[in-house]
Amino acid sequence: MKELKVGLLGIGTVGGGTYTVITRNQADIARRLGGNIRIVQVADRNLELAKQVTGGQVAVTDDAFAVVNNPEIDVVVELIGGYTVAKELVLTAIANGKHVVTANKALLAVHGNEIFKAAADKGVIVAFEAAVAGGIPIIKALREGLSANKIEWVAGIINGTTNFILTEMRDKGLAFADVLKEAQRLGYAEADPTFDVEGIDAAHKLTIMASIAFGMPMQFEHAYTEGITKLTIKDIQYAQELGYRVKLLGISKKAEAGVELRVHPTLIPEKRLIANVDGAMNAVVVKGDAVGPTLYYGAGAGAEPTASAVVADLVDIARLQGTKAEQRVAYLGYQLDQQQVLPILPIVEVHSAYYLRLRASDKPGVMADITKVLADLQISIDAMLQKEPAEGESEADIVILTHTTQEKIMDAAIANIEALPAIAAGVTKIRMEALSR
Ligand code: HSE
Repeated sequence: MKELKVGLLGIGTVGGGTYTVITRNQADIARRLGGNIRIVQVADRNLELAKQVTGGQVAVTDDAFAVVNNPEIDVVVELIGGYTVAKELVLTAIANGKHVVTANKALLAVHGNEIFKAAADKGVIVAFEAAVAGGIPIIKALREGLSANKIEWVAGIINGTTNFILTEMRDKGLAFADVLKEAQRLGYAEADPTFDVEGIDAAHKLTIMASIAFGMPMQFEHAYTEGITKLTIKDIQYAQELGYRVKLLGISKKAEAGVELRVHPTLIPEKRLIANVDGAMNAVVVKGDAVGPTLYYGAGAGAEPTASAVVADLVDIARLQGTKAEQRVAYLGYQLDQQQVLPILPIVEVHSAYYLRLRASDKPGVMADITKVLADLQISIDAMLQKEPAEGESEADIVILTHTTQEKIMDAAIANIEALPAIAAGVTKIRMEALSR
């Protein structure tokens, strides 16, 4: 087997991890592969860092285009992130007939359709295991391990930062803003945490998984995204009293009218394994019609876990050198010309169960008025919790869990509940998923 020559774009956290893993595990990788993978050039804006990590063993440059245009290189590993320069570099590498490995979920979710089309035209591989859930081989599982199945739904904790924050809120009883500061101090959260805490990073990863699961192009622009910034410790604790955990879930389901593609805080029964995935860990549940629900768990970020996925992609590419496109697994599981543009359901069309928290005067008939609003819209109540008013207060918190209904019907019910004279403030709504079938 011909040696695979790699050009690395970016030698920060994941790039450094990739260099370390390839170097440390070279012998085992060679024994598996029957050949070698060698990093021959590294580009990073920080030349000193590049020299330090590679110890002078590899050519370094601060010009990423020198790598994608280097005729010696077979495969470019893009680890610089972002949409703009990364896109140009990836498309240039493809145009130069090089395979690409990328961990860039934002790039693929937003520009993936164009990138895969360009790669198909050139007959090169674009591999991206590291783009979703870091070290968990979820792309391989969805694309290959589950290829016998009709996938019914995918649901995942696919952002470690928010899972860390939610776990700390629950365990320590702290508010979101306080835990975020702590997460930033510990290096879990970025200085600008918007992509993580607003659910955008999770929506990028969900978009990629949904495309593979349902054989459709990337449709990130239609994803519903709601983050964790408005979650209160009160809701996390009430959910816990009722036997639920609150997680930021990415959920994609094939429904009759289209595909649900949504990221939002979600109540999950605490007895589900995925409800017990804590700290910065990730997990994905995939439901196939033949296999049933399957669960994948592991580190969703970090230098070596992410490098584990990058290097596995390099091993695949090394093995596939010289093959034709039809001998390879399709980029997104389904052949590109077999993809269907399935409609993504607006959030108001989605069906879900709900957690509602309201604050009401502690007077006779109030509960009857609330339940009548729900009954009038055929919304069935699953469980209820009423707290005693605090000392000296005349209003009480009421928590209601409902059975499944459509979001627009629930929104109409909430508007009617908020119009009742005994209701003191806006109703808090959190979606709830059983994840059982
Ligand atoms: N920021 C991401 C997370 C890791 O917190 O999971 C990279 O996708």
